[in-house]
Amino acid sequence: MNFFEQASSMLHGRQVIAITCFQWGDTGKGKFVDAFGSWAKVIVRGTGGANAGHTISLNGNESIFHLIPSGILHDAEGKINIIGSGVAFDPGIITDELDMLDDAKMSYGNLLFSNRAHLVLPQHLLLDRLRESKADKIGTTGRGIGPVYTDHYARRGLRLNDLLNKDIFSQKLKANLREIAGLLSLEDSEKIKAILGHEHLGGGRYWSESSLIDADAIVETYVAYADRFTGMIQDTDAIVREALEEGSKVLCEGAQGNLLSIDIGSYPHVTSSDCSVHGLMKGAGLDMSDLDLNLGIVKAPYMTRVGNGPFPTEFGGEKSAEWCAKAAEDEKKKSRKQEELDRFGKVSVNSQDEFLRGIGIRQAGHEFGATTGRCRRTGRLDLPLLRHSIRHSGQEIILTKLDVMDESDVIEICESYTYRGPSYRLGNRIINDGDKIETAITESEVLARCVPNYVVFPGWKTDISGIRTFSDLPQKLIDVIHYIENKTGAVTEILSVGPDREQTIFTEN
Ligand code: IMP
Repeated sequence: MNFFEQASSMLHGRQVIAITCFQWGDTGKGKFVDAFGSWAKVIVRGTGGANAGHTISLNGNESIFHLIPSGILHDAEGKINIIGSGVAFDPGIITDELDMLDDAKMSYGNLLFSNRAHLVLPQHLLLDRLRESKADKIGTTGRGIGPVYTDHYARRGLRLNDLLNKDIFSQKLKANLREIAGLLSLEDSEKIKAILGHEHLGGGRYWSESSLIDADAIVETYVAYADRFTGMIQDTDAIVREALEEGSKVLCEGAQGNLLSIDIGSYPHVTSSDCSVHGLMKGAGLDMSDLDLNLGIVKAPYMTRVGNGPFPTEFGGEKSAEWCAKAAEDEKKKSRKQEELDRFGKVSVNSQDEFLRGIGIRQAGHEFGATTGRCRRTGRLDLPLLRHSIRHSGQEIILTKLDVMDESDVIEICESYTYRGPSYRLGNRIINDGDKIETAITESEVLARCVPNYVVFPGWKTDISGIRTFSDLPQKLIDVIHYIENKTGAVTEILSVGPDREQTIFTEN
């Protein structure tokens, strides 16, 4: 059976499925959204914003998209792609992405945007960057995500629909700027001017000597952006609901991952939307009760994290975290991939030095951030964190990037933690120094004090990228998969052994 036959057989009888990540994002959702895009009639994003990034091949050229769903490749087949109400919507970035589609002569006639999606405006980008210039930074992507969701919940946010009513947009914008003026007055105006001078923030267009931010300049630019896509702004919740009632299949496309969720992630080192399946369903205009299957993507047996915050199983610990926090020296180059290669050369995944081993795995897995170009931090698969994700979001998983570890001599898996630190009260529970923790406690201050206990397996040392049947996989890898399942309750539905659609194994679980 080819991919589509196997996918259809697996999804038989299901109408709504979600693809989300059970880790810190970047686990390869795009491949499966694209692959299952043919199965669905409607593909909808419900969380995050331009902090996400997925590479789409347009007529042979690789382009990075941040907002438009990966399912856009199926537009010509009549599939409806939706950016739902839960997404932080940046009109400037959408305009660039529509230009990219135009240049590649790709159709997007069925692309729709929720009229209730919250707008990312220059003040959000500015506030994000100001916050990130402080010592206790989160390591955000600088896309204004935190300030947009802050405004949303502070009831001073602006929504996409406001762009359709210029006077209302102008009034609401001015009210918003009045509210945040107090915050901005605490900052150095020269610093604000410098940030607003950045090309991503309009190259100085929104700077005002008298009021710091020029509201009229924002109104003119953003209303003009919307002129380009007015017809696409619709009540997408109603469209998704109608599609369901007609019996159409819906694919909900997650962004980021559970461990970055504002609600269940490694708080406060998280993003500002609930990017778990719960947030996704709501932001897509659906309810959890509409969902037939959530496929949680798990990169294994290594994992990655971008940005600050604890990562117990990281190769090279703090040294790695520090190295990976750096932005590209030459901003125009965007990715640090070449910079790292120039500095360390080609590194083995079996290097004796842990920090270097992490680099070797990063090189083998091409683990460089699609949005910021930063090096993704690499570490071993962490079962306490996986148990936490499964407990919250379900047990069906897709294991990805298995082939990256083909050459590894050993496979270390973190089966539990030992807590090392002062006694910590967690509700009515007290965690003491030396306690064993099996399901992660995701408060950053606890996670940072968790020392992993590893179980070591021999590597399978075989090229698995051409294998298409579970039983043909090396027994040493099957042992690792069974171990992960037995220790977490996960049910592996699919395995990915390479970037291509066909490099997929259905387990027939
Ligand atoms: P923000 O979402 O830009 O506010 O960033 C908050 C944290 O989430 C930072 O650690 C980012 O690196 C991380 N983050 C946001 N989006 C992604 C993503 O798509 N993949 C991986 N990490 C992300």
